[in-house]
Amino acid sequence: MAYDGQSNAAICMEGGKCLDGTVLIQGSKNAALPVLAASVLIPDTCVFKNVPYITDIDCMKNLLKSTGAVLEERKETHMLRIHSENIREYRLPARYVSAMRSSVVLMGALLGRLGEALVDYPGGCVIGERPIDLHLFGLEKLGAQIWTDKNRIHAYADELKGALIKFPFPSVGATQNTILAAVTARGTTVIQNAAREPEVTALCDFLNKAGADIEIEHDFIATGRIVIHGVDISRLHGVEYTVIPDRIVAGTYMFAVLCAGGNITLENAPAAQLRSVCALIRKMGADVVLDDENDRILVSTDTKRKIRNVPFVETGVYPEFPTDLQSPLLASACVSKGTLILKERIFSSRFKVVEELVRMGADITALDHERVQVRGVAKLAGRTVIAQELRGGAALVIAGLAADGITTVTDTRYIKRGYQDIVGDLERLGARISYVD
Ligand code: EPZ
Repeated sequence: MAYDGQSNAAICMEGGKCLDGTVLIQGSKNAALPVLAASVLIPDTCVFKNVPYITDIDCMKNLLKSTGAVLEERKETHMLRIHSENIREYRLPARYVSAMRSSVVLMGALLGRLGEALVDYPGGCVIGERPIDLHLFGLEKLGAQIWTDKNRIHAYADELKGALIKFPFPSVGATQNTILAAVTARGTTVIQNAAREPEVTALCDFLNKAGADIEIEHDFIATGRIVIHGVDISRLHGVEYTVIPDRIVAGTYMFAVLCAGGNITLENAPAAQLRSVCALIRKMGADVVLDDENDRILVSTDTKRKIRNVPFVETGVYPEFPTDLQSPLLASACVSKGTLILKERIFSSRFKVVEELVRMGADITALDHERVQVRGVAKLAGRTVIAQELRGGAALVIAGLAADGITTVTDTRYIKRGYQDIVGDLERLGARISYVD
């Protein structure tokens, strides 16, 4: 059954087959969302390439249309043209905001373009509370006045003014929101302790291409410092921009090889952004070759026997081990030799997938609210399991590759939020997998 972003078809796979082959990594969800939001700032036409076909992007497209942008797309070429000459609506429809928390990043762009934004509180989700206090902190520092009631946030700014903004925590979304509001603010903004994720740098690259004036020093990872010199909105112009590859999708498939064994090549893979992941996977016994020049990563395990757990891993902010690969790591740890203690330091409850992995025969014990202990077992058993969120759902799919018999993952709508075609990708790598109604 071909990929259909709208259906909630289940994913069915038969485990036990090694992976072998090459797969092209899709455009990055977490890079595409903020740059599409940034188009609201630009009174011109932007052309985006390598935009992933995932439901979070569909949601962003609907949000952009609701502001008055006109979108044209050619699915076959993954190209999206956004005409933002006539952005006029600052109120975002609740149904799209509640469907995707990261829609809150549109606030900064709407403030920069229209001086006003009205957004529903994005609220928490299954991986934990998703407060936006740091977003509002940054916008208020730039001079926005913000009113909140139980479920809506109204931001208004006569004029945004450059400021010194020191984040107590390097929030990705809050950094992006603040950058978007600072682009056309009067004067200079200095952000300290900004998020260092590649999706922040990519946003700044896009904005500079469109006429913004943002400085990111070469030692940005060490300093976390971003300087934004405000420019008049008339300086901003349309650009043609290619979305960077998705490091989390690439990492997911790297852990798929640890689950199923085999030898794969990831094309268009952001090797330089996955150093912490590659270091861990090498320690677990796989061979990893990073070909930065050709954006290629080769991962192979000579036999599954060699894959073993490292004693302790904790998630952290970039460039530490990414929270979005915590569940895929967990899945591979279930069938690796030895014991892993895994600590989640970014989100307050990102272990929902544990209950489904245990149903497949995994030996996982919760040590406290932020740590689990995994003891590797020889085999998992195929089961029908339920995806409850995006990365946990992907983890169940790669766990199914290592399970005896048939695994069916239901509620795959969560997976389609971020994976363009996980079934097609894994099929291209030799997995026995398909969508089923
Ligand atoms: C982005 O979310 C990503 N989403 C997440 O990916 C990713 O896990 C996260 O960054 C961390 O890397 C997108 O880019 C669309 P944060 P974001 O603000 O911006 C707390 C995926 O699977 N916090 O860095 O929401 C927050 O509760 C998704 O693709 C505040 O307390 O991440 C969390 O515990 C999941 N106050 C921590 O910071 C705030 O105002 C990290 O959040 C904002 C955040």
